[in-house]
Amino acid sequence: MTTVPDVATFDPEIYRADFPILSTVLHGRVPLAYLDNAATTQRPRQVIDALVNTYEKHYANVHRGIHWLSDQSTDLYEEARENVRDFLGAETREEIIFTRGTTESINLIARSWGDWQVREGDEILLTEMEHHSNIVPWQQLSQRTGCRIRFLPITDEGEIELSALDTLLTERTKMVSLTAVSNVLGTVNPVEEITRRAHAAGALVTVDAAQAVPHQTVPLREWDADFVVFSGHKMLGPSGIGVLYGRAELLDAMPPFMGGGSMIQRVTLEGYEPADLPAKFEAGTPSIVPAIGLGTAINYLRNIGLEAIQAHEQRLTQRAHEVLAEVGGVQLLGPAQEKKAGIVSFVMDGIHAHDVAQILDRHGIAVRAGHHCAMPLHKRLRVSASTRASFYLYNTLEEVERIGEALHDLKHIFRRE
Ligand code: ALA
Repeated sequence: MTTVPDVATFDPEIYRADFPILSTVLHGRVPLAYLDNAATTQRPRQVIDALVNTYEKHYANVHRGIHWLSDQSTDLYEEARENVRDFLGAETREEIIFTRGTTESINLIARSWGDWQVREGDEILLTEMEHHSNIVPWQQLSQRTGCRIRFLPITDEGEIELSALDTLLTERTKMVSLTAVSNVLGTVNPVEEITRRAHAAGALVTVDAAQAVPHQTVPLREWDADFVVFSGHKMLGPSGIGVLYGRAELLDAMPPFMGGGSMIQRVTLEGYEPADLPAKFEAGTPSIVPAIGLGTAINYLRNIGLEAIQAHEQRLTQRAHEVLAEVGGVQLLGPAQEKKAGIVSFVMDGIHAHDVAQILDRHGIAVRAGHHCAMPLHKRLRVSASTRASFYLYNTLEEVERIGEALHDLKHIFRRE
């Protein structure tokens, strides 16, 4: 990686060389087109090297040993936290909790804040486009407390019906939890407006930013959310590391989620005293090396610039919409291209999503097919499954053209055209 491009001259080929896996050739002849980035991204050599280097030279447990290696490991782990804080624009390191991923972060909120603050008759407001990880933890909270889960409806085009806030947001609403970018539709949601209205109604806001943080500069201050959660593996980092950002005073008041080592000041046979933030929420040995890898992934993204990445993905999305329209017989899910991120889900008339994905795979194209962990959303859109192409900085326009070629082949196979 040598140049820092401006938006107009972004060339993914410069970066592809950093990703060893992208030179894979499938079926002995076709180059891999990896278009499943909303599920997980690939790692550049720089991140892989950081992992190997840490294991080879700097690895020990953190915050425990009174020895040189443990100090090294601790410093690297805490540097990664500082890097995340700065990247996100959070005020203090106490606001950055390392978790295993977005799912664990939301479960932490629902368990710790939810069990503490939510009672029977209270309401949690979600949207119809949530990933299961932003539905099930709240349903489990409902089972424990008797609270009611309500859903902001979406339009047929896959946008939140904001007018429904007038009736669904009430003094009973304790939390509004929504995705910033739909993992199926690519819809970019008006987080700022929803937060403003939720706060005015006395509710807190959680933002599932798993599909946002990797692709755009997150306007943390403008969002003004109480919690923001995301995963490392969707932004070139390792799996097994995620982030919970929370307002310091809120995290400070919340009870610990899991108990064990590291999260305590003191333990006696009678009880325990929790540690200060952020340790209070990091029980047990954390994902030390994945956290360090996430820090390196952030450096890599910063070096390129999220604005340039976002603009590139928008170009790919626009071309994907055109290619799918040219193929014909394709229903695109979600709003118009200018209202969405680099995620393109579609349904082909009379052909199951799994068959579509299988034919694409024969052409070396990796996409996801099914309900993408969003069954209620698919039900709402009256489709049983969809095929999803999702882009990142290393994808090319040529790969998008290959989707079109593969789908023509698919139509030929299924319809004998
Ligand atoms: N959340 C990931 C996806 O949308 C797994 O594919």
